[in-house]
Amino acid sequence: MLSFWQTLPRPIFMLSPMAGVTDSAFRQLAKKFGADVVYTEFISTAGLHFSPDAPHGRLEFTEGERPVVCQIFGSEPEFFYQAAQRIEREGFDGVDINFGCPAKKVVNSGGGITMLRDLDRSYEIIQATCEAVRNIPVSVKTRVSVGCVDDNGTKARERHTVLDLIDKIRDLPVEALILHGRPYETPFAGEPDYEMMRRAREAFNGIFIANGGVSTPEYARTMLERTGADGIALARGVYGKPWLFRQIKDFLAWNAYVEPDPATICQIALEHAEELVRLKGKERGIREMRKHLVWYTKGWDGAKELRRELVRVLTLADIQKLLASQTEREWSFVPYSSS
Ligand SMILES: Cc1cc2nc3c(=O)[nH]c(=O)nc-3n(C[C@H](O)[C@H](O)[C@H](O)COP(=O)(O)O)c2cc1C
Repeated sequence: MLSFWQTLPRPIFMLSPMAGVTDSAFRQLAKKFGADVVYTEFISTAGLHFSPDAPHGRLEFTEGERPVVCQIFGSEPEFFYQAAQRIEREGFDGVDINFGCPAKKVVNSGGGITMLRDLDRSYEIIQATCEAVRNIPVSVKTRVSVGCVDDNGTKARERHTVLDLIDKIRDLPVEALILHGRPYETPFAGEPDYEMMRRAREAFNGIFIANGGVSTPEYARTMLERTGADGIALARGVYGKPWLFRQIKDFLAWNAYVEPDPATICQIALEHAEELVRLKGKERGIREMRKHLVWYTKGWDGAKELRRELVRVLTLADIQKLLASQTEREWSFVPYSSS
């Protein structure tokens, strides 16, 4: 049976997993604007193991998001096995293993990027996950490299790279590799390591997705050219810009794309807020929407004053009123086409 990866158009544009951002409401928007596949926020395999019956909001999705992949993290192969089976039962289209997260909480528990230091354990985790699922593909998301530590926890000379991981797991049926082009030591800043990405592309036999720093259609094209990737994972570039997927596709097809005007952006933001409230309830939905509102209006005339009000909204009506006041203004901003 063909997995969804084989049926996607090329290049593939995926919504990269982002905790606190890529919930169902945002994934639906990304899909609407052309994302080919969307990833959930990461879920702890230990959390699923120790509290299987607790409400796990991150396991919820809507049919319109398909194909939707659930990402998990942790350090125990047995927990990955159980979590992957649960994810398949919940109806997800794929399961992804997080070997890239640099967050202290994840690193201190031996998960995320630290797995790249322990290739034997990485192998066990990926093997357990592949063995757990019957009909859905497994992908791995990681970084280009990590500095190792010796037994007493001090920095060692050795570095492990994604090439070591690819070599180690060559016999496992991992369908896709999502590679963040930055190392652990500079987690979110600086140029991606194109050379290492290109080498990883050549070494890995499955679908190879490049990630890191893509925030414009022009840069998406550069990333594809420089890495030879099958696709790109968009992360912070889609903050307040879920339509970036459509813009990139238009740019690759016609060398031009359109910027939405403020009235359209306000409409999208409002729909986003309504869906968040529907999914998470009034209080939590509005609280979580505030950061999105700031992102949607970034760079607008008077954005600073507007931001002060947006971070204080309490109801959908507040959001509606504030956004309406924006659409009624005179705009110096003109939608444009690039060529
Ligand atoms: C707020 C935030 C949350 C993130 N959460 C996750 C996550 O849950 N799982 C994951 O694999 N990567 C996570 N990432 C990493 C992104 O998916 C992506 O790899 C990284 O931001 C680099 O891409 P960018 O430069 O285009 O943002 C997160 C990044 C950010 C900024």
